[in-house]
Amino acid sequence: MTTSVQTKTPRQLPRWRDLEPFLKTRPVERDATARRLARCLSVDDLERVARRRVPGAVWDYVYGGSDGEHAMARNRAAFDRIELRPTALEAVAHPDVATTILGRPAAAPIVLAPTGYTRLSHHSGERAAAAAAAEAGVPYTLSTYATTSIGDTAAAAPGGRNWFQVYLMKDRAVTLAHLAEAREAGYEALMLTVDTVVTGMKRNDKRNGFAIPPQLTARTLAGLARHPGWVGNILTTEPLRFATFPEGSRYARWGMSNELREQALRPADINWLKEHWDGPVVVKGIGSVGDALACVGAGADALVLSNHGGRQLDRAPVPLELLPEVLDVVGGRVETYLDSGVRSGGDIAAALGLGARGVLIGRPYLYGLMAGGQRGVAAVLDLLVDELRRAMALLGTPDVASIGPQHVRLRAS
Ligand SMILES: Cc1cc2nc3c(=O)[nH]c(=O)nc-3n(C[C@H](O)[C@H](O)[C@H](O)COP(=O)(O)O)c2cc1C
Repeated sequence: MTTSVQTKTPRQLPRWRDLEPFLKTRPVERDATARRLARCLSVDDLERVARRRVPGAVWDYVYGGSDGEHAMARNRAAFDRIELRPTALEAVAHPDVATTILGRPAAAPIVLAPTGYTRLSHHSGERAAAAAAAEAGVPYTLSTYATTSIGDTAAAAPGGRNWFQVYLMKDRAVTLAHLAEAREAGYEALMLTVDTVVTGMKRNDKRNGFAIPPQLTARTLAGLARHPGWVGNILTTEPLRFATFPEGSRYARWGMSNELREQALRPADINWLKEHWDGPVVVKGIGSVGDALACVGAGADALVLSNHGGRQLDRAPVPLELLPEVLDVVGGRVETYLDSGVRSGGDIAAALGLGARGVLIGRPYLYGLMAGGQRGVAAVLDLLVDELRRAMALLGTPDVASIGPQHVRLRAS
């Protein structure tokens, strides 16, 4: 029988100088917003924090999808199915996430999507979002249904790349006034949204009697009572209204949008915009190869594959899944971006790998806004850029152009 020799770990009495480093406490962060944001390590964390900071009806408006929310769920399910395949032997420790968008430098392949009524998320609204985007070096898109005017938003983001999202109005004089104001304020591009012939049915908004200014039902009053900070900020800043339209006009009235908006968009409308705007025209809301081709034929400078974050046609195609089909026919003729469901740097890497020039984010920056105003939006952009950079390092892709289809596989489940 063999006996094994037992090794013995030498022991000693604990000494103060060895214990000391373990007993040091971190300095307490006194600023509540900074403390809140520091705890958020992902967009999902920010979503959880954001939800607690706004009345329920505001949360439902921002978070919700249309009808049965199939498109909204499928957007995420598609990103969850992504497998990222490394080429680790080509890795670099510090990949470059910078790119060009519409031919101009962007610090990252990210654009802030247009969102209506942004000041509901936080009283600093569009100003804060545009300023954070400018600071981060990425474009910001102001919605036609913004709660801050075209000029005031641009003034809050000096040096920023601002785009204006147009909803064509039946009365083209109103749209021409928007274009003139955007031109005057130095906006770089127009984004024409084409997937809103009518507004999607968001059931919770209907149940909540959601409106601007908020309707005071028992349900909304209860929600407001639980958020005195949000209410106080809204009541002590400029009134909530559709700020791209003249005050008091029927355009500025809630519930009028479907009637006043052009409901029969045709390729000729893209030609019309190109005639009246001497910068790029991006078309957003593409959900089929045919529409993509028609837009390119009509002179669109870039496309956004989008199902509006699952807020319009329920069961619309998932942009991530549609992308390869569209690129097959559109090729490199125009830049193609996508949105709907992007929540992490890994998601962005997947979209780039499948051929997108960049991604738009909607809800993620609104969550940042709810959680911490401008600093919250900056935190979202920092997180996404950091995640993208780490994903690229681990993938073995030194720059965004080197992320390719070989790095992305859509798993069956
Ligand atoms: C609260 C909210 C308001 C929106 N308002 C607009 C709008 O006014 N115009 C528009 O083209 N898209 C609008 N969108 C859609 C976004 O531009 C974008 O397509 C969508 O949010 C992307 O999906 P994501 O939220 O999953 O990132 C809105 C989205 C949200 C969440």
